[in-house]
Amino acid sequence: MEVFKTVAGYRTWRNSLPANRTVGFAPTMGALHAGHMRLVEVARKLADETVVSIFVNPLQFGPAEDFSRYPRPFETDSALCRAAGVSAIFAPEPGDFYPSDFSTHCDVDGLDQHLCGASRPDHFRGVCTVVLKLFNIIQPQVACFGQKDIQQALILRRMVEDLSLNLDFQIVETVRESSGLAMSSRNAYLSDDEKMRATAIYKGLTQAKAAWAQGEKDATVLKRIIRASIDAAQPTRVDYVEAVSQARLAPIDRVEGPSVLAAAVYFGKTRLIDNLLLN
Ligand code: PAJ
Repeated sequence: MEVFKTVAGYRTWRNSLPANRTVGFAPTMGALHAGHMRLVEVARKLADETVVSIFVNPLQFGPAEDFSRYPRPFETDSALCRAAGVSAIFAPEPGDFYPSDFSTHCDVDGLDQHLCGASRPDHFRGVCTVVLKLFNIIQPQVACFGQKDIQQALILRRMVEDLSLNLDFQIVETVRESSGLAMSSRNAYLSDDEKMRATAIYKGLTQAKAAWAQGEKDATVLKRIIRASIDAAQPTRVDYVEAVSQARLAPIDRVEGPSVLAAAVYFGKTRLIDNLLLN
């Protein structure tokens, strides 16, 4: 497995691949877990070479967020990638990746107004900018993203369509702990007690989806079901519990077309998100 810290180093390798060899790409911020590794698995199935980027992207963190304390266990991450058959890791240094005069950004209008976009201004602009730049460097034929971050995935899919990027955009189902808790690098911040209480998010989403499957289409009722489960677990704060359409990611009153039930909840200082798709 190759490890590249510079764009030039990666490009030399990329250009040395035979023209017909395809590259599957899973962008990450590291602290890899089974969720990330599922993306790697899908990329490996769909392409000849698999590339993982590990880069804690300063552009997508707000001033009060966890950029500096975000976990960076590079040795463990690269061992996981090697064991999973990854061909190359791209792990640039922030100072090289974004020179001090970096001035260009990518915005996908509209889809960032609700859910996480409402409480994390400029977050998705930072995500789109880094992912577009990574696509330009990595030159993948296939790119894999997790449903866990559904707003991110749908915004990036729109960017790929709008800018006619020539790649197969895959959204991979959320990988969960046996408790139901969605795997996340940020779960490492949780105490055992918080981890147990946090399972209420998925429980609530599952109960609401079951009610929807039995005919309940009123978003207020479905949100109340999710909220009751979360509130019983005494979270520190609920950022949102929302029902949105998949097309516009805007709140809906009735859950009739393809929709998303989503929640963002703080346990201690840790903000957790999860969602289920209703199709
Ligand atoms: P990160 O949080 O490291 O996640 C990297 C990818 O793994 C994302 O596509 C995310 O949705 C996916 N993922 C995380 N947890 C998952 C789970 N439990 N099941 C399935 N997939 C999961 O998301 C980012 O990094 C960054 O915003 C990035 C896209 C790398 C841009 O900086």
